[in-house]
Amino acid sequence: MGRKLIVAVLCGGPSSEYEVSLNSGRNVFKFIDRKKFLPTLVILQKDFSLRIGSQTLPFPSGLRRFDVVFNALHGQFGEDGVLQSILDLIRIPYTGSDTASSFIGMDKWLSKLFFNKSGLVVPSSRLFKQKEFPEKVKFPLVAKPRRGGSSVGVELIYSRKQLKKTFEKIWKSGDDVILERYIRGRELTVGVIEKKGKIISLPVIEIVPKKRHKFFDYQAKYLPGHSDEIVPAPISRSLAGRLQRSAIQAHKSLECSVYSRSDFMVLGKKIYILEVNTLPGLTQNSLVPKAAQAAGMSFGDLITLIIKSSLERF
Ligand SMILES: Nc1ncnc2c1ncn2[C@@H]1O[C@H](COP(=O)(O)OP(=O)(O)O)[C@@H](O)[C@H]1O
Ligand SMILES: [Mg+2]
Repeated sequence: MGRKLIVAVLCGGPSSEYEVSLNSGRNVFKFIDRKKFLPTLVILQKDFSLRIGSQTLPFPSGLRRFDVVFNALHGQFGEDGVLQSILDLIRIPYTGSDTASSFIGMDKWLSKLFFNKSGLVVPSSRLFKQKEFPEKVKFPLVAKPRRGGSSVGVELIYSRKQLKKTFEKIWKSGDDVILERYIRGRELTVGVIEKKGKIISLPVIEIVPKKRHKFFDYQAKYLPGHSDEIVPAPISRSLAGRLQRSAIQAHKSLECSVYSRSDFMVLGKKIYILEVNTLPGLTQNSLVPKAAQAAGMSFGDLITLIIKSSLERF
């Protein structure tokens, strides 16, 4: 047996998902297998310094002391390929997808082009850059920021007035707007994980937001009891199989690595893909850990598998 790997569990970061990332990071730090790894919780502060306990280190050189970075960041910077390219530059292995796949996965517009090309179906959608408004549209529609996450900025739109307000808000945040057909169907999400080079699909989860949430919005995602997440989803075996194959196809279409989670809407017989999450949440309540557990994999084993599969890339 070799020595234990020294792992930086990196969380926090400059994005709006700072708090969620802290939860993912702390959870990974708590359950990582200490027989195999020597973990340190490293918090990336909003000013880009690294906090380890009471110690502050500069970014990124403070990461050089580690064998591998467990990337528990979410959203802008950590999930969009920027951190990945910095770690590539200073030659530190990290978990998850590479720079290019992370960049494409964070860009919902580019992702759609890749999904289309691989034969997956996306809700019909259009892109609106600053100051471009649609002419004639039929409501309801979904408006979302091109590079968002955690449902931040996603709105169900019923009127021209609401559309204008939502567009202005997204533009003000510096992003483009994607306007999509509202799929009034069931929402399902599927995690995949690579094991010895093979992509394995986890059990399908159905998401049922509680009544006062019209869709899986920020509150429904993060407030306990605001949505039911049913695993395995109460759907036919054939639909579950189709969804699992679609999640593997989505993972491949963006050339993702190690693990990802794809969000789908199902209406009638049709499966629509919404997005691939290249760094899905790893908190106590997150979806991939729940699906892994339903498949008989403990959270600690999931983390071990993520690290092992990631290191195969380096
Ligand atoms: N076209 C759509 N039709 C119906 N609901 C949608 C649509 N797009 C998004 N949603 C709802 O909004 C949520 C967030 O959208 P998503 O595209 O997954 O972005 P995020 O990256 O913020 O999770 C979804 O989980 C779903 O509940
Ligand atoms: Mg989503």
